[in-house]
Amino acid sequence: MKHWIVAAMLLAGVARAGEAPDYTADGKMAVPADYRQWVFLTSSMDLNYQTGTPSSAHALDNVFVNPAAYLAFLATGAWPDKTIMIKENRSAESAGTLSKGGRFQTNVLSVEIHVKDAARFPGKWAFFASGDGKKPGEFLPTGANCYSCHTDHGTVDTTFVQFYPTLVDVAKAKGTWHDDKVK
Ligand code: HEC
Repeated sequence: MKHWIVAAMLLAGVARAGEAPDYTADGKMAVPADYRQWVFLTSSMDLNYQTGTPSSAHALDNVFVNPAAYLAFLATGAWPDKTIMIKENRSAESAGTLSKGGRFQTNVLSVEIHVKDAARFPGKWAFFASGDGKKPGEFLPTGANCYSCHTDHGTVDTTFVQFYPTLVDVAKAKGTWHDDKVK
């Protein structure tokens, strides 16, 4: 597709093909094929929540959101239905660099998905996790700790907007920011 057509569609807030959640017959969710072309929100180091991770094994993550949802958030400070957020977890290596303390990203450790789909999930949002980033994500039931931590500490609608620097001021300006969740 020509770039100007894509740009016009993005400006119009039209979701492109591949931005809609794709569920399998057995209730999993496919990892969106082109999420690496979506809007980048942040990269964090060791902001993970795995218990028992040895301190020497660092992890970096990259968070992406589908472009239509990003544009809607800029306009409203809220995530529209069918928002898909991706957290791609990668190994953080240091071997072979000139830097003493620096780390760079290598292989994908897992891909986690946070999707808003009000017709499908009673709580509107659901989590899925793909062990290798390629296989469809397994559905995580509402008892999983993903839900409680995101509900208790995510500043905007169970998402961690406090760590997405381009969105913090938008949420504050639009009044969707929950200061009490920042801990
Ligand atoms: C103890 C708190 C905690 C738990 C438990 C947790 N998360 Fe998160 N999650 C975070 C934080 C902090 C971020 C901020 C982004 C980062 O790590 O760079 C985040 C971000 C995310 C994002 C990016 C979109 C968003 O909502 O902001 C996804 C996707 C995600 N987590 C998936 C999961 C899944 C799947 C689980 C359960 C297996 C889970 N999380 C459990 C704290 C948590």
